[in-house]
Parts: sequence; structure tokens; C-alpha cells
Amino acid sequence: MMNSKARITAIGSYVPEKRLSNYDLEKMVDTNDEWIVQRTGIKERRIADENEYTSDISYKAVKNLMERYDKSVDDVDMIIVCTLTPDFKTPSVASLVQAKLGISHAGALDLNVACAGFTYGLYVANGLVSSGLNKKVLVIGAETLSKVTDYTDRSTCILFGDGGGAVLVEYDEQQPSFLSSHLGSEGERAKSLYCTNLSETLNGEELIGSGCIVQNGREVYKWAVTTAPKGMQSVMNNAPMELKDVDWFVPHSANLRMIESICEKSGFPIEQTLYSVVNYGNTSSASIPLSLDKALREGKIKNGDKVLLYGFGGGLAYAGILINWTI
Ligand code: COA
Repeated sequence: MMNSKARITAIGSYVPEKRLSNYDLEKMVDTNDEWIVQRTGIKERRIADENEYTSDISYKAVKNLMERYDKSVDDVDMIIVCTLTPDFKTPSVASLVQAKLGISHAGALDLNVACAGFTYGLYVANGLVSSGLNKKVLVIGAETLSKVTDYTDRSTCILFGDGGGAVLVEYDEQQPSFLSSHLGSEGERAKSLYCTNLSETLNGEELIGSGCIVQNGREVYKWAVTTAPKGMQSVMNNAPMELKDVDWFVPHSANLRMIESICEKSGFPIEQTLYSVVNYGNTSSASIPLSLDKALREGKIKNGDKVLLYGFGGGLAYAGILINWTI
């Protein structure tokens, strides 16, 4: 149990207009729609404009949240942006978002845990609010992965897309959202999935890829489908209920076949599993809020539902969180 005093009170999202379909990719690399759909379930992804960056996507996701829930963010006292594709090495995306929103005196920090970023961000926000350090925290998961994707590498360019989602986490002792969690990291496996920056070696090994995402798809796939079911169970071991009592499962939307395999191994029904991968591809830290918001717009998630979020990916790292949905 988390002894939480924090509640998720609003959600918003944004994806760029431009679509990149499997048929578009057929003209760029040696691939085809049938292979991509069969191996990943992905049909299309959204791609940011040349001059559209993660701070722009984050800002638009928060604007969407404010409009839909009639919420002001003037008194937000901490902004957490979960991303692996910041506009700059410095300043942080969170500082840029703080300025764009005109929020004065808010703390601002970026959090990079790749595809587990959003669930890590929620974990941190719950800690800050429940401890009394902050009253109102914006948690944003946003990415412009198209800017670090090698569009000559058919094994990665078919996967990634751009987008963002945001939630507001506020102090609430009566109806806390956060029921239990489980997280960790396996940095020994870092080379399975990386994107170079300043260093050209990792765990003593030379890297390739200069600034673009490189991965051993098979290794990441195997790791995810064997560790995620155990991780989900670890979240439930700390929870006041069992996995069968969970209404919705929201795994990181990396690949639909991976999601199906995780469901099969964990015994959780795929019909109660929410994902954004078919139309948005793998959007890393944005994938979970995009899946949540899509399901809300479709009228699937209702107040009082128990929702199990589970992020996993680069690091390699993972974080699961069980939510009592009460917006
Ligand atoms: N189109 C057509 N063929 C392709 C292809 C593409 N886009 N990408 C790879 N192939 C080929 C390979 O060259 C290989 O051919 P070969 O047998 O002649 O050598 C064959 O397909 C199988 O390649 P492999 O990499 O073993 O395929 P796979 O079944 O593992 O699928 C991924 C590749 C990337 C779709 C899959 O491994 C995956 O999704 N992994 C997880 C990636 C992920 O989600 N990462 C982020 C985690 S957060």
C-alpha cells in the first residue's frame, strides 16, 4: 500500500497532425504493411513538424487538459516532463513548458526513464504530493522520437512515433488515486536499447548509431514478455486486491504482439487491455497517457475503476502503478 494523499484530477493529450503509414514506409525502406502489422500491430504513427519539439507537444497536451476539465494551472508548484527526446540538453523541457504556460515559481524537472518514464513520473508526483512537499503537480509524458529515428533502419523506423499526454496530480486525502507500485532498473542490459549522446561506449562496449535509437529488438522483446508479468504481480502483491479485480491494464504500447504475449502469460484478458500502438506506434513515455486518454474518450474507463499501468523499456527499466480512477 502506498499511503497516498494524491489524486489524478485531469488528463489531456496531443498528437501531431502528420501521419506516417506503413504504406509510406514501404516507399522509404524494404518493408511492407503485412510484415509490420503481423509483427507489431502498428498501422500508422504521428510525426512532429520539423520545427515542433517535445516542449510544444507537452504544452499542447496541457492546453487540452485545461480546456476539457476547465482547470487552471496557475497554482501548479511542480512540472515533471518525462521524455527521452528533450529539445535541448539544457534548459529542461519542464522549464520551457513552465515559461510557455506562464506559471511563475513552479519547480521544473525532466525525468528520463524512456518507456517507463510516465509511470516513474507518477510515482515521483505521488511521493511529492503525499509527503506535503507539493500541492499540485503536472506530469507530462511527451516525445518527438521521429527526431532520433534512423529512417534507413527498417527494424526500428517502423516502430516509433510522436505525441504527448499530461495529468494533474493534486493533494487529496479522501480519495487518493495511488494504490500500489513496483519499479526497478536493470542497467546491465542497457545496450539492448540506447540512443547515443556524449559517450560512445556503454558498459565497456563500443556503440554505433550516432544520436539515433539502436536496439536489439529480439532481446528487448524477450525481456519484456518474461519480466512484465512478474512485475505486474509484484504491483498486485502490495495492493489491497488481486489481479482479477483490476478493470483495465495499460501496458507501455511498444508492440501489440508483446502486449498479447504479456496478457497471455499474466492471465489478464486482452479485452480489458488498453493500448495506443495501432494508430500512434511506440511513443515511449507518451504511450500510457495516450492509451488512457483514448480509452476515456471512447467511454471505457469509469470512475472507481482500478487501472494497472505498467511501463518498461530503455534502461532497461520498468515501473508499474495501480490507480483508483476518480477524476
Ligand atoms: N520489414 C521487413 N522485414 C524486416 C523488418 C521490416 N521492417 N525488420 C526486420 N526485418 C527482417 C529481418 O531483417 C530479419 O530477416 P532475416 O531473417 O532475413 O535476417 C527478419 O525480419 C526477422 O528479424 P527480427 O529482428 O528477428 O524480427 P522480429 O520478429 O524480432 O521483429 C521487431 C522485429 C523489432 C518488430 C521486434 O523484435 C520487436 O518489436 N521488438 C521489441 C522492440 C520494442 O518494442 N522496443 C521498445 C521497447 S520499449
